[in-house]
Amino acid sequence: MQSLLVLGRQPALGLAEIESLYGADKIRPVGEQVAVIDVDPCLLAFDRLGGAVKFCKILTTLDTTNWGKIEKFLVQVSPQQSQQMPEGKMLLGLSVIGLEVSAQRIEATGLSLKKAIRKTGRPVRLVPNKSTELNTAQILHNKLTGPNGWELVFIRDGDKTIVAQTVKVQDIESYTRRDRERPKRDAKVGMLPPKLAQILINLAVGQLPEDKLESICEIPADQEIPLPLLEQTILDPFCGTGVVLQEAALMGYHVYGTDLEPRMIDYSRANLEWLNEKFRLAPVCSRLEVGDATTHQWQKPIDFVATETYLGRPFTSTPTGEILAQTVMDCNLIIKKFLRNIHGQIESGTRLCIAVPAWQIRRDQFKFLPLIDQIDDLGYNRMSFEHLGNEDLLYYREDQIVARQLLVISKK
Ligand SMILES: C[S@@+](CC[C@H](N)C(=O)[O-])C[C@H]1O[C@@H](n2cnc3c(N)ncnc32)[C@H](O)[C@@H]1O
Repeated sequence: MQSLLVLGRQPALGLAEIESLYGADKIRPVGEQVAVIDVDPCLLAFDRLGGAVKFCKILTTLDTTNWGKIEKFLVQVSPQQSQQMPEGKMLLGLSVIGLEVSAQRIEATGLSLKKAIRKTGRPVRLVPNKSTELNTAQILHNKLTGPNGWELVFIRDGDKTIVAQTVKVQDIESYTRRDRERPKRDAKVGMLPPKLAQILINLAVGQLPEDKLESICEIPADQEIPLPLLEQTILDPFCGTGVVLQEAALMGYHVYGTDLEPRMIDYSRANLEWLNEKFRLAPVCSRLEVGDATTHQWQKPIDFVATETYLGRPFTSTPTGEILAQTVMDCNLIIKKFLRNIHGQIESGTRLCIAVPAWQIRRDQFKFLPLIDQIDDLGYNRMSFEHLGNEDLLYYREDQIVARQLLVISKK
């Protein structure tokens, strides 16, 4: 059994994240936006993925990319398929990735399917296509992943078409709560989006142990499932308001946060207390203390390090060469000293994923920290991702000057 994921806005990050968790040989990218994974859909830990927006199970693969032929096939098989669903109104949606077909044509196909299914006596509601792909909000709002929902996704795979059914989409409501409702936020230290925090953690932890994989099937939605306790500790040495700690605790890791500023430690503490009250957590331990990451002595154990380091001054317009050079030097010094300091305190092989600044000096052109070329001398191996080649892992918006570069390394 295979699973299929539709990747998010920056697909390279989503691809690296799943390669990290499941291993390169289990992953096959399909086009730019999709990956097929050799993992049973029942065992895919979708909720912890920050870089995938849609999770589907593969129904079949057709030997054509011609929409007329695909439509014919659908009209034939849908009535029978609909009989296997629970009684009541069926909710139908169609999404297409990589095939040459317009939103209007897709909707026309939807109407033909609706007609064919209705002939069997079953009422159907079709979600109209404003574009070729239905978005997460439309899928959630129209309950297309519920028991009576049927969102079909068609993905071009060379000269074939994969037909898949959406099982889950990103829980945007939960992400918004985890981001906006936290009692302590601070615009100055920057807002790390929870999805990006998940990616940092997943890149840091590497392959998941088989017996801790989440099970999403065969468990009634209203039944409380005990959350797995992963018995491993994630350290964030620049923890700020604690977004990485929060997301790691939600995944079932013990969390350890340190920061130079006592106020940030108070904020992280308040945020973790809030998390404990509002979300169902495994019995994780949390430790917080003030500490300068360039000199601090951390308590053991440290199994992984996931952090967004000091990013330097925030810029809203391109800085002068002199100011940029100074900022690059400041950040480089702090992060290098941190890497030297922690090196003696972690076991060989320990993985770190650190988000460091990179500056967009021209559209899609970046200035990187000098230390990126000295990783080897600092005593670390840089991890590479088979499906990405030499592509840098960058998180930024088009108009942003300070981007985050995700550096995945392990102690030699
Ligand atoms: C970009 S913020 C991290 C934000 C954090 N990921 C969050 O979600 O709130 C960087 C943090 O590093 C802290 N910091 C700066 N220099 C430090 C140092 N030398 N040691 C430890 N923390 C430091 C700052 O206080 C700030 O909280």
